[in-house]
Amino acid sequence: MKDEARLSVRIDPVGNLIGRRQGKNEGPSLLLGSHLDTVRGGGRFDGVSGVIAAIEVIRRFAEMGIENVHPIEVVAFLAEEPSPFGLSTIGSRGMAGKLSLGLIESLRDEKGRTLGEAIREVGGDPSRLDEARRSSADVLSYLELHIEQGPCLDSQRIPIGVVTGVAGIVRGRIEVIGRSDHSGTTPMDVRKDALAAGAEAVLSLERICRKWAGVVGTVGSIDLFPNTTNVVPGRMILYWEVRSLQKDLLALAVSSYEKELRRIHEERGVEILFESATSSDPITFDANLVERIVRVCKRLDIPHIQLSSGAGHDASHIATVAPTAMIFIPSKDGRSHCPEEWTEIEHIGLGTEVLACTIMDLDRDA
Ligand code: HGY
Ligand code: MN
Ligand code: MN
Repeated sequence: MKDEARLSVRIDPVGNLIGRRQGKNEGPSLLLGSHLDTVRGGGRFDGVSGVIAAIEVIRRFAEMGIENVHPIEVVAFLAEEPSPFGLSTIGSRGMAGKLSLGLIESLRDEKGRTLGEAIREVGGDPSRLDEARRSSADVLSYLELHIEQGPCLDSQRIPIGVVTGVAGIVRGRIEVIGRSDHSGTTPMDVRKDALAAGAEAVLSLERICRKWAGVVGTVGSIDLFPNTTNVVPGRMILYWEVRSLQKDLLALAVSSYEKELRRIHEERGVEILFESATSSDPITFDANLVERIVRVCKRLDIPHIQLSSGAGHDASHIATVAPTAMIFIPSKDGRSHCPEEWTEIEHIGLGTEVLACTIMDLDRDA
């Protein structure tokens, strides 16, 4: 495949896997791709369908004997999903110049390994981080095909979504410090039960996010200590996230949450350490590129709608570097990040068709 499509393959300094097909001309590239990782207990289409579609576009050029004018690069971004280092979208953050060597060498997983060591293990070289950085001087545009991971396309039986923007995400960690005690002898009114307080923190987040349409919030992961049947839990760690397409609502939801946690601290007498660790702003994709994809759908007579994404994507970061847009294909029953995640092959084919035609148009017109 590599030779047939004339792809030269490399790992960039931040660990992204990049296949480059030279163009007739030198100069800025057309970028397309997605990610290959998924979540624990995830499905078979999140990310990988976008990388396969991108490679298929290159094959299309080769098969049709089309000499692309501009260099085309297919990217499989490193670690799009939340990683053990407490950071997600690592490869695209690096490409967008949002990582520093200090941060990379300071983030550690539960075994104490630094993110820098992990990047070197996959062939990157954080000491040359700057060389991974891209700009509008060397990227003409970025296009990503991705499964919707939500219900809109499937419920309306529409095969293509032209994505207009991506929700912002704030993620963080809460540590509830109570007191471990004997569960049989400790009276209820003197307990500092970290799990009961943490449970209230989970329900508070749900209550806050239900208040506003367009805001979602989740506590998706917890750690409990000592996690023993006959011990009043002394310590609990909760990993939370809030998402919204509206930056002001996102900030309001996070500040309301902090206030709620202070109330729980006062009422229950437990210590609560709150941190918002990472965030990505809501972004709006390039209107001209969105319009171009819509024109391709109309030309191919493929039913389509415009919609925004509640899921985060590498495209959010690359959008800060060059004109960027996404093409969604349906997720069966709107399910994703679970074994039931499913997308019909004919939808992947249609999405790839739209991606290929958009790239060929861009290559001709840019
Ligand atoms: O979490 C997300 O939204 C993405 O699927 N990584
Ligand atoms: Mn995902
Ligand atoms: Mn994804």
